[in-house]
Amino acid sequence: RSCTILGAPVETGASQPGCLMGPASLRTAGLLPALGALGWDLRDLGDLSIPPQAPRTHANPAIHHLAETCAWIETLEAAAFDAAQGCDLPIFMGGDHSLSAGTVAGMARHAEAEGRPLFLLWLDAHPDLHGLDSTESGNLHGTPVAYVTGQPGFAAYPPLAAAVAPGNVCMMGIRSVDPAEHARIAELGIEVHDMRAIDETGVLPPLEAFLEHVRAANGMLHVSLDVDFLDPGIAPAVGTTVPGGATFREAHLIMEVLGESGLVSALDLVELNPFLDERGRTASLMVELAASLMGRRVLDRPTRSFAA
Ligand code: ARG
Ligand code: MN
Ligand code: MN
Ligand code: MN
Repeated sequence: RSCTILGAPVETGASQPGCLMGPASLRTAGLLPALGALGWDLRDLGDLSIPPQAPRTHANPAIHHLAETCAWIETLEAAAFDAAQGCDLPIFMGGDHSLSAGTVAGMARHAEAEGRPLFLLWLDAHPDLHGLDSTESGNLHGTPVAYVTGQPGFAAYPPLAAAVAPGNVCMMGIRSVDPAEHARIAELGIEVHDMRAIDETGVLPPLEAFLEHVRAANGMLHVSLDVDFLDPGIAPAVGTTVPGGATFREAHLIMEVLGESGLVSALDLVELNPFLDERGRTASLMVELAASLMGRRVLDRPTRSFAA
């Protein structure tokens, strides 16, 4: 199986600098050798870039770096579409979460061309469901899920070629929701497993139910992993830490089950801010989690069966 690796050193969607160094940190932590050791046919396309942008303003004065964000969305949408044509599973190394507005959009166009629906698993402390009108921070990493699901109010972003149906989105790890996002979750009926739900059931029942839904629809699955999905105690290198995140064991279990499903068609590794890391531990954990998704196991296991 083939995997294309692409770096997206985007930091303009976040409030503080540092995610620019994310791809370099993931490389330094050994992402490529870890996946190569698992038998993947790897192609490293290096890091993408955008040209310098003239500033663009918006009616919402909180918004910053609109021009850069739009340029990244266009670049990444095209790069994701091409990468998905050319391999089984592209990995996008961020960069802040605004990059997923581009990568998920490109994967949605790819899935549509294949005549299959795209599903989105959003592993994050935040739902990132703001419109350009509703973001109070103006940090555009808070907007990608609203954009890729085709919500109104994105006239300033590049037009979306193919949207992800809100019913095909599943979120896990959520524990910081702004009022406008809360209203949108209710309105769209997006499946959200917040940390309270995970405390009650564990990660496996909701994950397996979602994977069964993807399988039944012959869907493609895009997994978007934000560092702040993880508990800050194990993953400090992120600008938006929220206490009470996923544990080491929960995160690895999710990744292993995703890998065994054979359904994952793309992976974002986002929001790693190496400037905030402690001796590379968060970068190393993200690499280990990617390896779990890509097939690394402690012992051989019988193939999991998925009940209908
Ligand atoms: N909801 C908050 C905001 O809009 C936090 C967003 C955090 N998003 C992220 N991708 N880390 O500012
Ligand atoms: Mn493909
Ligand atoms: Mn996020
Ligand atoms: Mn987040």
